[in-house]
Amino acid sequence: MSSQIIPVEPFDYVVFGGTGDLAERKLLPALYHRQLAGQLTEPTRIIGASRTAMTNEEYRNYTLAALKEHLKAEELEETEVANFLARIHYVSVDAKSDQGWDDLKKLLDTGKDIVRAFYLAVSPSIFGDIADKIRDHKLITKSTRIVVEKPIGRDLASAQALNDTIGKVFKEEQIFRIDHYLGKETVQNLMALRFANALYEPLWNSAHIDHVQITVAESVGLEGRVTYYDKAGALRDMVQNHILQLLCLVAMEAPSSLDAEAVRDEKLKVLRSLKPITDGNVEKQTVRGQYRAGASAGGPVNGYQDELGAASDTETFVAIKAEINNWRWAGVPFYLRTGKRLATRMSEIVIAFKPIPHSIFGESAGRIEANKLVIRLQPDEGVKQWLMIKDPGPGGMRLRHVSLDMSFAQAFDVRNPDAYERLLMDVIRSNQTLFMRRDEVEAAWNWVDPILKGWEEIGQKAQGYTSGTWGPSQAIALIERDGRTWHEND
Ligand code: BG6
Repeated sequence: MSSQIIPVEPFDYVVFGGTGDLAERKLLPALYHRQLAGQLTEPTRIIGASRTAMTNEEYRNYTLAALKEHLKAEELEETEVANFLARIHYVSVDAKSDQGWDDLKKLLDTGKDIVRAFYLAVSPSIFGDIADKIRDHKLITKSTRIVVEKPIGRDLASAQALNDTIGKVFKEEQIFRIDHYLGKETVQNLMALRFANALYEPLWNSAHIDHVQITVAESVGLEGRVTYYDKAGALRDMVQNHILQLLCLVAMEAPSSLDAEAVRDEKLKVLRSLKPITDGNVEKQTVRGQYRAGASAGGPVNGYQDELGAASDTETFVAIKAEINNWRWAGVPFYLRTGKRLATRMSEIVIAFKPIPHSIFGESAGRIEANKLVIRLQPDEGVKQWLMIKDPGPGGMRLRHVSLDMSFAQAFDVRNPDAYERLLMDVIRSNQTLFMRRDEVEAAWNWVDPILKGWEEIGQKAQGYTSGTWGPSQAIALIERDGRTWHEND
């Protein structure tokens, strides 16, 4: 089955940070893909904006180089590339002064009332400056939206301050807070799996589920993001946003519809039901780790502090035993873990069902494993349902644990689009379902803040782990203490 492309209204996307890493690696390639899919309509334009002085021509060359670098050669169709480049414009603006803003206004004010999206792919420290300039230069029309990238704060107070700053200029329905995990196909599939099938939902609770595991493992290290990462660490960088969003999609009640408010209301309830982890239980329920030298992707790699060139206790790994205090989930631990320089790049959610209450098979049948549903988010996206079956053939009743295995790549002959493609178009359609509402972001910080404070108060250090492994041994102990194990990569 081929995918269905619904063209969107014409728009002007103004990308602040137009010469930055995100624009180059993700935004420009994603927008080109939408061009290739035939989704962009006339007179759509993409306007790069940053302090660098550049002509339109130079920015088109920059864009072309970005496409060549980040897309496959066969994706670059000559006519489509030319059509795409014709949409590209550039304005040099300074967030901190009036320089360039009149030029931007002149470019935008074409007299046509088309969707206008401002994408802030810049440091949050200048979100407020840009928002003020947009307002002062009267760039806000009735179909204007603003898109902001994480990090939205480094704790609850700074997140509130940032939300206030943007909120002074834009209404909540105009603000699109990106969490790119929500744009991943397999993450959206979680909702399909849960709410488009009658099979799982009756079992989706503490009566039938023993525990849940969420792993987001990366094999990469710092990737040059030294300044940001060392101040953030894995809890702020991955758990506060991506992992908690995944947890919400697994744990939330069925929303009444896919409407943005309906979905976000349910996610918010989950965030607010998370049992606090504070200095009293932080040592028992969390593990901090930091990678040391080892091997990754086949070659030797340096440790975190060597890469950083300084001593640091920032965590590059975190494992947490989270609990949700509500009727559905009381007593069902959610084991979360994420880290850099782990054994492999792999994200998955494991729903571990309870064992059968009584076995009618004798000892010769072998061990009866509990059922598991494994949702593989990346790579090799797919779903595996682990079941017990009879080993075929004579010789009595021997049981085997096997998986019903569906690989999306094999099942569907379509390209798996990058998360940003979907999200960038949802902004134009003004569909907020896959974006975070202010109260969600703040509720997530409200749970994360006491963990950060707890670590500080008890002086919980980052445990070293060898690059290329599954993190510190304490993370294995975290789950094994409860008589469970991390799901093995199968
Ligand atoms: C980003 C984090 O939000 O997500 C990075 O800041 C991380 O540290 C990245 O590498 C992971 O995203 P993905 O899509 O590669 O899993």
